[in-house]
Amino acid sequence: MLWYSLRVDPAPALRRACPLVRWRRQFETGLEPIDQQHRELFDALARLGGELAAGAPKDQLDEGLAFVARHLIKHCQTEETLMKEAGFPGRIVHANQHQDLVLRVRDLQYRRAKGQELGPEAVALVGEWLDHHICESDLAMAGYLKSLHTA
Ligand SMILES: [Fe+2]
Ligand SMILES: [Fe+2]
Repeated sequence: MLWYSLRVDPAPALRRACPLVRWRRQFETGLEPIDQQHRELFDALARLGGELAAGAPKDQLDEGLAFVARHLIKHCQTEETLMKEAGFPGRIVHANQHQDLVLRVRDLQYRRAKGQELGPEAVALVGEWLDHHICESDLAMAGYLKSLHTA
């Protein structure tokens, strides 16, 4: 069985909870496990942004943030494993960007733990960083990985 599929499912119904965080079709890499994780990440960010805007209870917000952090770390590990197995030359730079993304989410958790209020714009900023990373780095990585299987 191939470790990836070129089949791309139609975009899932997007949550409209936070209009500041949106999954975009341009994010599609053609690697279904990666695309699925990206959709889940944006879904979780949009949900969390909506909960922050609505003033959801503290425990719910903390769990939402922890959920985003867990999913982001799992996703980064998925990509880093694929890049290592494929010998992708840009994997160190890419992994450093992942570390930066994770630290940004950890920073939000730290600020909440100190009692700071976070608004939906804080989550939207994470979405922006993720957007930029996918467009700049994940698509390049996916192109390399796919080229290995079409050569
Ligand atoms: Fe990445
Ligand atoms: Fe990614």
